[in-house]
Amino acid sequence: MSSWHRKRIAAPISDKACPWWRIFPLSRGDATFEAMDRALIFDLERRLDHYERVGLAHLPTPLEPLKRLTAHLGGPRLWVKREDCTGIGFGGNKLRKLDFVLREALDAGADTLVSGGVVQSNSQRQVAAAAAKLGLDCHLAVYHGRLAPPGPAYETSGNALLNRLFGAQLHHVPWTGNRNQAIRALAEELSSDGRRPYVVPYGVSNALGAAGYATAAAEIANQSAALGIEPRAIVHGSGSAGTQAGLVLGASIAMPEVGIVGIDIDAEPERVHADVLRYGSAAADLLGVPFPTDRVEVVAGHAGPAYGVPHAATIEAIKLAGRLEALALDPVYSAKGLAGLIALVRQNRWTTEDDIVFVHTGGAPALFAYAEALDP
Ligand SMILES: Cc1ncc(COP(=O)(O)O)c(C=O)c1O
Repeated sequence: MSSWHRKRIAAPISDKACPWWRIFPLSRGDATFEAMDRALIFDLERRLDHYERVGLAHLPTPLEPLKRLTAHLGGPRLWVKREDCTGIGFGGNKLRKLDFVLREALDAGADTLVSGGVVQSNSQRQVAAAAAKLGLDCHLAVYHGRLAPPGPAYETSGNALLNRLFGAQLHHVPWTGNRNQAIRALAEELSSDGRRPYVVPYGVSNALGAAGYATAAAEIANQSAALGIEPRAIVHGSGSAGTQAGLVLGASIAMPEVGIVGIDIDAEPERVHADVLRYGSAAADLLGVPFPTDRVEVVAGHAGPAYGVPHAATIEAIKLAGRLEALALDPVYSAKGLAGLIALVRQNRWTTEDDIVFVHTGGAPALFAYAEALDP
């Protein structure tokens, strides 16, 4: 039995019909512990059930082993939570947040979604996709100047192309450092024109979005229990902070032993840390629990020279994920997240007996916008 397999409790039905991790349901063999796990997960799900969702995201997303990357690095067993597989409009982590946030938009009678981000923002592309699916208009404040475009495809390909395909109306504005100001100004303009706009904040990060992302922790807890693993840590790229806030909150309820490690991809670790606390505390209020401020870990040093600029470690992560695991990471977020994880593995933060979950938060369309910079 390989070290990936703890304890087999059911005979395989057919080696060919299913992947190995479905053929071998695994168990820690401790019924009391499992019942406790289930009670914690149920508590989280019950708290989340107070909030209705639109149901756009394809859930649950798979939790899969990264056997070849694990062997290559020689460290802990690595798993990937496929948040890039949330379905509509090329998927990504924002759809899970949007499921909660857009319920509020529909209930408020909105006819237009207003959001924004940089030219290659995955967030605004997912807002545009959601608007198309829900039959709402979509207006996006597209920020220019936060980074120097890596090549001509940056302005037109990838997410920029998809925004147009999904029918969003683009408003080009300069980046000022204030993430939500131009979005709010656009909403006011639309409102005075008689529209009923609903503001989706930058990165879909607010209290409700963060609470929505706690559903990912519930899924990982359920899937880990089914697999018979107890992850030591969940690692992911952290930017506008709603993803990490939701994971920390959800894990504090359903997986109290698991550490959440956010890799700063914005080159602003203090700001990211402060925003995780801000959105996490507000989301915790929604779920009626305290927010564990001491469990917020934001790791600096893997963002490269600046936001949106891939460096050698980003490109190494993209190539390793592609060649060893057929995963398409993006050069702005998910590859920097994996670069951070690879660095922590190489620093021997975990042992070969640990299970570590990497969250693939999506973003692959941006690969095409960065083609010249990547040269795979
Ligand atoms: C692909 C991808 N990964 C990670 C993140 C970071 O998530 P958050 O902004 O919730 O921290 C983003 C945000 O835009 C993203 O697009």
